[in-house]
Amino acid sequence: MTEETMTQKPSPVALLDLARMLAPHKEALHAALERCLTHGQLVLGPEVLNFERDLGQYLGSPHVIGVSSGTDALLATFMALGLEPGDEVLTTAFTFISTATSVLRAGLRPVFVDLAPGLFYPDVEQYEAAWTPRTRAVLSVHLFGEPQPLTQVKALCDRHGALLVEDCAQAIGAKAADGRHVGRVGIAGTLSFFPAKNLGALGDGGAVFTDDAALHAKVREKRQHGCAVRYQHQHLGGNFRLDALQAAFLGVLLPQLDGWVALRRQHADAWEAALAPIAARLGPDRLTLPVDVPGHAWNQYVIRTNQRDALRAALDAAGVGTAIYYPSALHQQGALAAAHPAASLPEAERACAEVLALPVYPGLTEAEQARAAEVVAAFFAC
Ligand SMILES: Cc1ncc(COP(=O)(O)O)c(C=O)c1O
Repeated sequence: MTEETMTQKPSPVALLDLARMLAPHKEALHAALERCLTHGQLVLGPEVLNFERDLGQYLGSPHVIGVSSGTDALLATFMALGLEPGDEVLTTAFTFISTATSVLRAGLRPVFVDLAPGLFYPDVEQYEAAWTPRTRAVLSVHLFGEPQPLTQVKALCDRHGALLVEDCAQAIGAKAADGRHVGRVGIAGTLSFFPAKNLGALGDGGAVFTDDAALHAKVREKRQHGCAVRYQHQHLGGNFRLDALQAAFLGVLLPQLDGWVALRRQHADAWEAALAPIAARLGPDRLTLPVDVPGHAWNQYVIRTNQRDALRAALDAAGVGTAIYYPSALHQQGALAAAHPAASLPEAERACAEVLALPVYPGLTEAEQARAAEVVAAFFAC
C-alpha cells in the first residue's frame, strides 16, 4: 500500500446512482431508441400499447393507461372519477406534494389525516374520525414501498359509498397481504416512473391501472384532452400522454423490476441486521427502524431518530448520501393552504423532524452498505 492509498478517503456511498444501475442495460436501451427511430411513431402507438400490456400482465390488472407522470396519473384519475367540485378526499399529510395537489387541481378538496403513531400512514379509525358528509374518497399512499393494510379502509369506504384510490408511486413491486400487487384493492392504482422509483424511466412517466372498464375508458380520454373521437372533446382533459420513447425504455427495464426489488430487500435486511442491536440498546426515540412487513418493496429505507440532523451530518462527512422525505408535512405547505385550514397534525410533524432515508438502491454494494452502517454505529456509540 502506498502512502497515497493509505491516506485516500473512501469513495462516497451514493443514495442512488442511476448510471451504475443502468449500465448493464445500455445496449438494450440503445436498441429500443433505435427501434423508435426506425418506426418513427413517437407519440402513443405500439410502444405505449406494448408497455401497457406488459405492465398489465405484471400487475395482474386488466386495464393500464400509460401517462406522463405519477402526478398526472393522480390528476387524470381524480378528473375521471365523476366526483363533484368540493367533494372531500381524505389523505395522509405525510407524502409527496402531488398526492394532494392533484386532488385539488381536479376541483376536489384534500383533507389531511394524521399518521398513526409510529407508522407512515393513518389507520382506519383516523380516517373514520375525519369523515364528513362531503367525504367521497380516500387516497391512500403506499409510502416508501410499504404496502398499507387496506381491508378495513376499503370496508369503511364501501359503508359510505365512497371510493378508494391507491397512490402506488413509490410502491411498484410491493405486494399486499393477499399476495396481489398493491393498487388492486381500490378502484384505481397510480404509478410514477420518475427515475428514482423502483421502476424508473429515463425521464418522467406514470400509469393508472384499474379493473373498472368505465374508469379505464375515461382516463384514456382524459389523457388526450378529454376526447374519445379525434378532435371531439366531450369533457376536460389534458396532455397526459406517456412518451413512446419512455414506454420503450420502460419495456426494457420492467423485466428487471423483481430482481431489483429483491436486491432492495437484501439491503434492507442488511440494515436491519446491523442496526437492530443498536436500536434495542438506544430505545425508540433515539433510533427506530422501519417495520419490515412482507411484500415491502423498499423504495426507501427510512429510519427515525431524534438526532436526525446530527446523524445526517456525520453520514455526509463520511461521504454517505441520505435524504429527508419529507421535511414538511402537506398541511404546512403554502400551495395547499387555501384548501386546508390551519391544523396541527403532531405525528406527521414529528415524522418530518425524525426521518432519514439511507441508501438501499439495487446498485449498492455489500461493502458500501457495511461502510455506511459502520458510520451509523459509530455515531450512536458516542
Ligand atoms: C407518493 C407520490 N405520489 C406522487 C408522486 C408524483 O410522481 P411524479 O414525480 O412522477 O409526478 C410521487 C413522486 O415522487 C410520489 O412519491
